[in-house]
Amino acid sequence: MLQDSSGRRIDYLRISVTDRCNLRCIYCMPSQGVRLIEYKEILRYEEIIRIVRIASSLGVKKVRLTGGEPLRRRDITFLIKGIASIDGIEEIGLTTNGVLLRKYASSLKEAGLTRINISLDSLDPSRYREITGGGDIETVLCGIEEAERAGLRPISINMVPVRGINDNEIEAFARLTFEKPYRIRFIEFMPIGAREFWSPERYIPEEEVRKRIETIGRLEPSGLNSNGPARYWRFPGAWGVIGFISAISNHFCNECNRLRITSDGKIRPCLFSETEIDLKPVLRGGGNDEELMRLLSLAVECKPSGHGLTPDTRANNSVLRPMSKIGG
Ligand code: GTP
Ligand code: 5AD
Ligand code: SF4
Repeated sequence: MLQDSSGRRIDYLRISVTDRCNLRCIYCMPSQGVRLIEYKEILRYEEIIRIVRIASSLGVKKVRLTGGEPLRRRDITFLIKGIASIDGIEEIGLTTNGVLLRKYASSLKEAGLTRINISLDSLDPSRYREITGGGDIETVLCGIEEAERAGLRPISINMVPVRGINDNEIEAFARLTFEKPYRIRFIEFMPIGAREFWSPERYIPEEEVRKRIETIGRLEPSGLNSNGPARYWRFPGAWGVIGFISAISNHFCNECNRLRITSDGKIRPCLFSETEIDLKPVLRGGGNDEELMRLLSLAVECKPSGHGLTPDTRANNSVLRPMSKIGG
């Protein structure tokens, strides 16, 4: 079992399978662009499957595939099948921008995907295009419907409210829970990603989002245990639930259960810390499983107890990897 010195049990691995993305979200992609990782440096599926097998022997039960955009990587269903066949893996999730979801939803489900999170920051076509640097909202909405039809459950929608950009849509997103059984999650804007875009003025704390939502009706606890950073509420009688992921105003570091693996094979013990442990020399240098186990345990040992971010934090200059290379 992987347990750190503060007693946190690590049973969740977030794996970024590619740093490539087919969108350019304003808060994620730095305007000067990002230097892409060379293909030969990106972990092969066999390598990822080996890591997950070893992690599962150490108690990891849940895997989430992220990017960049994970559906941009060819034959992602091969990877999902491989992970699904590993003893001890109970859940496989995917976080996607939804652009390619219409095409892949049913094969993802067949391959063994259990959960899907879709980023959607506006319901307005032209604003969506602006936020994502050219994305077409219809394609994404069709993708979400296709995911629902394919039986992927639950469907979680990630919305990052940013002041002056999309905050007047908070209520509209919350109202979706009356129509659909979705988990609509409001994510506090974090000072990571496109550094020049972050400012404390653009950050909206959970409390303010909640106040705006409660102009529609009172929220009650949903009773859902997320086993993750989201805390869920609902309108009485609604189909869906409303989640808050509040890394700044209500940070959840003391319950953190996860490690990240970057697409170039580095274990990243914390989203906000630049510490990384490279698995590739062992993976590609003929190292055995025990050595990989030792590296995973080491990553847990050096997991920081938390981050010290506040709304006044300047864009985190210590985070050298852009968000699209970490996977959120
Ligand atoms: P599930 O719990 O499996 O549904 O996944 P999730 O909510 O952790 O995953 P998702 O990829 O949808 O991420 C939602 C938001 O939570 C993103 O903005 C992530 O950056 C953020 N997030 C996920 N894990 C962490 C974490 O360990 N620390 C912080 N600060 N943010 C996180
Ligand atoms: N703050 C909060 N959430 C972010 N995401 C990307 N960048 C940020 C940020 N700076 C979210 C995306 C996606 C998830 C993986 O991370 O919206 O849903
Ligand atoms: Fe947008 Fe996610 Fe792509 Fe970043 S990685 S540009 S948040 S879709």
